[in-house]
Amino acid sequence: MSKEERVKNVNDEIINKLDKVNSLKELNDLKVEYLGKKGKVTELSSLMKDLDNDEKKKYGKLLNELKTNINTKFDTIKQNLELEEINKKLEEEKIDVTLPSTTINVGTLHPVTRVINEIEDLFLSMGYDIAEGPEVETDEYCFEKLNLPKDHPARDMQDSFYINAERLLRTQTSAVQARVMDANKEKSAIRIICPGKVYRREEDATHSHQFTQMEGLIVDKNISLADLKGTLEVFMRKLFGKDRQIRLRPSYFPFTEPSFEVDISCYKCNGEGCSLCKDTGWIEILGAGVVHPNVLRNCGYDPDIYTGFAFGLGIERVAMLKYGINDVRMLFSNDLRLLNEVNRIEGGDLDETK
Ligand code: DAH
Repeated sequence: MSKEERVKNVNDEIINKLDKVNSLKELNDLKVEYLGKKGKVTELSSLMKDLDNDEKKKYGKLLNELKTNINTKFDTIKQNLELEEINKKLEEEKIDVTLPSTTINVGTLHPVTRVINEIEDLFLSMGYDIAEGPEVETDEYCFEKLNLPKDHPARDMQDSFYINAERLLRTQTSAVQARVMDANKEKSAIRIICPGKVYRREEDATHSHQFTQMEGLIVDKNISLADLKGTLEVFMRKLFGKDRQIRLRPSYFPFTEPSFEVDISCYKCNGEGCSLCKDTGWIEILGAGVVHPNVLRNCGYDPDIYTGFAFGLGIERVAMLKYGINDVRMLFSNDLRLLNEVNRIEGGDLDETK
């Protein structure tokens, strides 16, 4: 058989075999069989060495044509096979979008966080700033600056966790008002609310050793008790409904004079008397008063120029009233039944920006 015939045979053979290839592996094996080191085409090339120059040229051309032809065929088939493979995969992995989805449980805001957010939104809209202070506080800021010198009998109102003689876990966010007044170098007007954790040595169904308070403070010229009453009225109506009345009962706090306990008209019976308000028609909600001149003085303010009012309330108590929770410990037990119920009452919207 002549060389030319052998080339033609190999060509026909390959084309024949390529027609039957139906996987990339088979294609690759075929490539090795023909174009590999010991392949049939390579074998044909080895015939070159015995040829004279003219023949070499002719034969070389023929071989090159064969190789180009084979390679083009290989490439086309390879592309087709790859495409087929992708399509097959796509077919197999087809997603059925009509299948019902699995439920994903989404967390919700804690009731305490909800109440804090609500109060913050209200006071921010009235031009207040939010201030924070340390939870491990000095005796000076927690008590002394607030007109509670060491050995003052009113310290007994708050049983404290002392770390040493001068440091304690703060018992009230009132410490933050002293800090902010003190830090204000220009001794200019202040309008703040201070949310945060506080700690006391007490624990029962309505008291926890750790709870959350929200302090409010305004210091400016010409602030009067009327401003306090107006502000608290807006505040309480926002939290407990627009029909709420408020009542100020004289009380005692060392850092305010005069001082008050503030009650709201019972939202359950509208003041008629029920089990929630213990038949009084009123629910005690916060402490407040006109900032004591000594506190202003202790923090560098001149009480003849500046006056102010302050208030403090427990967030857990508000949450318990708002959501009908009768044991404060429920708020710390992560019981999903409670959290889901609060979420339901609030319309189930989780505001992820908060
Ligand atoms: N700090 C008080 C407490 O923990 C609450 C309070 C009462 C804060 C009257 C005030 C206030 O700012 O004026 O019991």
